[in-house]
Amino acid sequence: MTTSGGGVPTSDEALLAVENVSYSYLERFPALDDVSMTVHRGEKVALLGANGCGKSTLLKVLAGLLFPDRGRYTAFAAEVVEDRLEDAQFARAFRSRVGFVFQNSDAQVFSPTVREEVAFGPLNMGLERDVVADRVNDSLTMLEVLDLADRAPYQLSGGQKKRVAIASVLVMNPDVLLFDEPTATLDVRTQEWLIDLIVELNAAGKTIVLATHDLDSLDRLADRCVVFSEEHRVAADGATAPLLADHELLASVNLVRARGSRADAGGPGLRSRRVESRQTPEMSRSSEVPAGRPASS
Ligand SMILES: Nc1ncnc2c1ncn2[C@@H]1O[C@H](COP(=O)(O)OP(=O)(O)O)[C@@H](O)[C@H]1O
Ligand SMILES: [Mg+2]
Repeated sequence: MTTSGGGVPTSDEALLAVENVSYSYLERFPALDDVSMTVHRGEKVALLGANGCGKSTLLKVLAGLLFPDRGRYTAFAAEVVEDRLEDAQFARAFRSRVGFVFQNSDAQVFSPTVREEVAFGPLNMGLERDVVADRVNDSLTMLEVLDLADRAPYQLSGGQKKRVAIASVLVMNPDVLLFDEPTATLDVRTQEWLIDLIVELNAAGKTIVLATHDLDSLDRLADRCVVFSEEHRVAADGATAPLLADHELLASVNLVRARGSRADAGGPGLRSRRVESRQTPEMSRSSEVPAGRPASS
């Protein structure tokens, strides 16, 4: 249903899938409304939408930090529910396969030194200290921050903290990397470096899901985009290039300015995977199911 178009060399193996997922904060503030999407092995998928549409919330669901009020989330063929993640073995397996790079590195980086920060996850996994030390060095080298190993993360610049946060995720060698607004707040050179890194990681076999409202660089960062409406629903799901050309769609979800006389001018073949908005009369949100707790990051 949501395989990427355009001859992108990805597999059909579904790694992550949300089906009809709804989520409201405090059972009052809707963030996701009946969202379904699938991430296949090897894809680079962007969750695209205006501020507040629900991108970060969906990433937190995919990361197992929030649990849907309604609908299902399946990762690696197992349903991800709160009870299961309380099981240490399931949690370890899941957390080693799905890595999450937060938008704000300050929420992610907390150890006294960079080296300890990056070692935290693998030590928690029960890996031997010397294995961990090697992995940490490899990650820091890859992220070009080995020289910062003994520094305190909180003293680093934003770009350096971002590199450390990514090192602390890559050190786990996850199959799937989730990035929340990866290039936001970075200087231009660091943005370019990070875009290249994401492309390289994908070429090396990592599956990438990233949230963004930035249309620049999207052609490099994503094969496929899942576009969210401001009503927290999926408005479109398809290959990046045609979606970027669909001005009417992008305007309708508040990603670009509406053009005056453009209404009927859009190329008809371009909106291949447009999802028609359904008018569900359902005004009351289920309150039987307790809402998941926000990440305590
Ligand atoms: N902790 C929270 N408490 C209450 N509402 C929240 C919280 N976090 C997000 N929201 C609301 O949920 C909706 C989706 O937010 P979010 O997923 O952060 O959107 P995006 O990442 O697309 O900007 C927004 O309306 C936002 O105000
Ligand atoms: Mg966000």
